[in-house]
Amino acid sequence: MISVSEALSEKYVGKNVTLRGWVYRARSVGKKAFVVLRDSSGIIQAVGEEPALSADEFKIASSLTVESSIEISGILKEDKRAPGERELVMNSLKVYCRNDNFPVTKDKGEEFLLDIRHLWVRSREFTSVLKIRNTVFKSFNDYFYSQGYYQVQAPMMVSTATEGGSTLFKVPFFGQEVNLTQSSQFYLETMIFSLEKVFTIAPSFRAEKSRTWRHLTEYWHAEGEVAWYGNEDMMKEEEKMMDYIISEVLKHNVEDLERVGRDINKLKNMNSPFLRIPYRRIIEIGNELGLKLEYGMDLGADEERTITNHFDKPVFVTDFPVSLKSFYHRPDPDHPETVLCHDLLAPEGYGEIIGGGERIWELDVLKQKLKDFGMPEDDYYWYLDLRKYGSIPHSGFGLGLDRLVTWIAGLKTIRDSIPFPRTIRRTKP
Ligand code: 4AD
Repeated sequence: MISVSEALSEKYVGKNVTLRGWVYRARSVGKKAFVVLRDSSGIIQAVGEEPALSADEFKIASSLTVESSIEISGILKEDKRAPGERELVMNSLKVYCRNDNFPVTKDKGEEFLLDIRHLWVRSREFTSVLKIRNTVFKSFNDYFYSQGYYQVQAPMMVSTATEGGSTLFKVPFFGQEVNLTQSSQFYLETMIFSLEKVFTIAPSFRAEKSRTWRHLTEYWHAEGEVAWYGNEDMMKEEEKMMDYIISEVLKHNVEDLERVGRDINKLKNMNSPFLRIPYRRIIEIGNELGLKLEYGMDLGADEERTITNHFDKPVFVTDFPVSLKSFYHRPDPDHPETVLCHDLLAPEGYGEIIGGGERIWELDVLKQKLKDFGMPEDDYYWYLDLRKYGSIPHSGFGLGLDRLVTWIAGLKTIRDSIPFPRTIRRTKP
């Protein structure tokens, strides 16, 4: 048994091989049955005719339906007209499951394709998205391991909020209520005291009512937290991480990027350094581009689209006003009206993919912030303890992996970047 990609290589030409997979296309012309077989590695054409196939086998081969599962054996030949310039001349055929009409065709609308996502994941387009996604997740892990970070895990059921109460999911918990986590950040912060450099990849949950290109209610969050780092150190680390992830995708997924229609040359130019632009200046740039923005406004997907269409590389937005960021962000000692933080905005209209920065590490400042935000100290007793015992300066970040895949693959919406998106209107399949 070999894979399709192996069958497309030089070494099997003229040999008898066996392949397994699914029917991608099938048609018969006169006394010949043509079958294009798909497996996880690609597609290859096979041709069947008597007497190499028995009369029964030929009958089956000439009436195969799309996505039926089959096993075929035969001699591999070179054929310039066939995809991959190879053709398998079949001498045996076995069917595992013969389908009635497969319900999926590309020209169906977005909602239909989401309803049958369990079948659409087999399409060549979605297979390519899954492969790009695989590289993004793997290279995130590989990058941080290569830099001496430890991977850690945090609970998903929590009793605190990191990013404000309005996007919390409440779930019943033995007569009480807990929240689904919005971010593993606070738990990562606990672990820098033992490991100094930590990261995690886990789902985060946001009860976001928005139905923009970039909102999921459950998304994959890659987060890092580092002892002794300041905001600039963190941004430098993120630049190197982004360079690595993009270079790995360009190394392993060119064919996939082409299949989903990504302009690869643009992606090749995304290397760091990335500009650092203060929030105040971003507001000015937005207004120069025709938006009506005021200092202190939170930028939504539409505003970020206009602004980032203006850039051809990711940009860091820094120095946000205190009022726009969560309570844990450290005010800039020189300009206390702003915090030492950053958002990384992807270019080409995509917008925010990372949020990060320095954390407040002084106990009295954090206590005051909790008070200012109307948050009960008791719920955060353990988070405050970190500022009581051996507290240190530190920074961290959170990267939305689904948003990153959406941008890297040049997809229209985040719903196309994840196999089973969860949004306000979708919990199935
Ligand atoms: O900016 P956010 O809310 O920051 C945090 O959660 C921090 N506690 C992270 C940290 O410092 N450890 O979220 C971080 C990133 C965003 O930049 C975005 O990419 C992604 O998470 N994100 C979402 N992705 C998909 N759907 C949503 N509803 C998202 N909300 C945030």
